[in-house]
Amino acid sequence: MVMTNETLPMRRNLGPRYPLQAPSSEEVPLNWNKWVRQTHRWVAIVFTVTVIANFVALGRGGGMPPPWVTYSPLPPLALLLFTGLYLFVLPYAARWRSPRIR
Ligand code: HEM
Repeated sequence: MVMTNETLPMRRNLGPRYPLQAPSSEEVPLNWNKWVRQTHRWVAIVFTVTVIANFVALGRGGGMPPPWVTYSPLPPLALLLFTGLYLFVLPYAARWRSPRIR
């Protein structure tokens, strides 16, 4: 069966990982978006380790763990918040920038 515009299923913009168009030079460099996503992914691991460290410290008895253990999840969580908000806005920003994707 020949796929024409009529027979093709409707294409949906699935976000920056599935671009329908090649990026133009005016767009935010894809490398930067990729870098933010990778940062988010790896900082998520760091965050998880600090949370586990808190449970381990509490599980060992001996009262409250030292403050540097208690507060260690906060810096990675702050990074996750900013990179996460950036990732959240990406697909909408792509739509604002390209009137052809709706
Ligand atoms: C603090 C606020 C956070 C915000 C606003 C946020 C937001 C987001 C957004 C928008 C995405 C992209 C989803 C997509 O593919 O469309 C994402 C991906 C992801 N988030 Fe978060 N996130 C946050 C915290 C966290 C935390 C606490 C973890 C784990 C400990 C986490 C782990 C991940 C992972 C593993 C991905 C997938 C990354 C990839 O595709 O490579 N995030 N997040």
